[in-house]
Amino acid sequence: MRIGFFSAKPYDKTSFISANAALEGLPKHELIFFEAALTAQTCGLADDIEAVCVFVNDQIDAHLLRCLAGRGVKVVALRCAGFNNVDLAAARALGISVVRVPAYSPYAVAEHTLALILTLNRHTHRAYNRVREGNFALNGLLGFDLNGKTVGIMGTGRIGAVFARIMHGFGCVLLACDQIENSECIQLGVRYVDQDTLLQQSDIISLHCPLTPQTHHVINASKIALMKRGVMLINTGRGALIDTGAVIAGLKSGHIGALGLDVYEQEEGLFFEDHSSDIIQDDVLERLLTFPNVLITAHQGFFTREAMTAIAETTLSNLSQIEQNLACPNAL
Ligand code: NAI
Repeated sequence: MRIGFFSAKPYDKTSFISANAALEGLPKHELIFFEAALTAQTCGLADDIEAVCVFVNDQIDAHLLRCLAGRGVKVVALRCAGFNNVDLAAARALGISVVRVPAYSPYAVAEHTLALILTLNRHTHRAYNRVREGNFALNGLLGFDLNGKTVGIMGTGRIGAVFARIMHGFGCVLLACDQIENSECIQLGVRYVDQDTLLQQSDIISLHCPLTPQTHHVINASKIALMKRGVMLINTGRGALIDTGAVIAGLKSGHIGALGLDVYEQEEGLFFEDHSSDIIQDDVLERLLTFPNVLITAHQGFFTREAMTAIAETTLSNLSQIEQNLACPNAL
């Protein structure tokens, strides 16, 4: 199949070229890479493309889907798990298949969540700079033992369940809310509670649910008001799970004691790009970056060697199945 990759970075090329070369017993795909994001303007970059392969910040709305259908595109292949950026109803109406990679490495994101927690708690981001400048003082670096603290996990699917296992290893008390209770988590001792109880009782709250109309701004001013004073809030899910303005107010008042983000509501156009020589126009992001107790990474939770290999292999296998008219279990 002739596949156009949009928002393609050098690391995408590396992993997809090697996964394509390793396809066994199947026809190889023709891979064409574009740095540009997929938009109505860029969808005509290559002719005769049967599939487009896109990432988390390519907005696949109804208008773009109509443009793609008009050019004969049959498949949208998401090289990610989340699919909140695709108008699935419009795709279905146009006969365009949408496939994704539901699971590649839950460990990658769960482990990155832990990295955010440990860094914020022990202030290693600040200690690193201090020591390099010859400042060996400990003032302001006081942390707390994770052992015995209550961790609230919103969403115990693949990533939330691995995160629960990790935090269990630290001796934490685990609370969760999810409409589907995960038996592996229950065996671990995770206690399922309603959302408000989780918010009220947790020292650390970590978001692992998908972004849907129901979870949009699931953390807002009234939910923050329920949280313990000094709570640590971590979001590696999707930016819009959090009302960023309300979180900034919570940080300013001291109600939120630490914030770790791998995703940001307005990340599109910023994250995954080098803007180090630009004047950043997003005042909300810039305000967030002024807090010493806020740590932001640019959507790198998924970014491990193992995950990149699995994403490429699954995406190409999804497309091989569609090409051969086989049922694709990862079709949406
Ligand atoms: P999953 O589908 O295995 O689990 C999601 C869980 O959230 C499900 O158990 C579901 O029932 C639950 N859920 C849905 N609505 C909820 C609500 N209102 N409250 C509590 N739980 C709710 O998904 P997986 O693989 O664990 O991924 C979770 C999310 O992580 C993805 O949707 C994606 O947005 C994000 N993600 C972020 C990455 C990163 O690089 N930072 C990489 C991969 C995924």
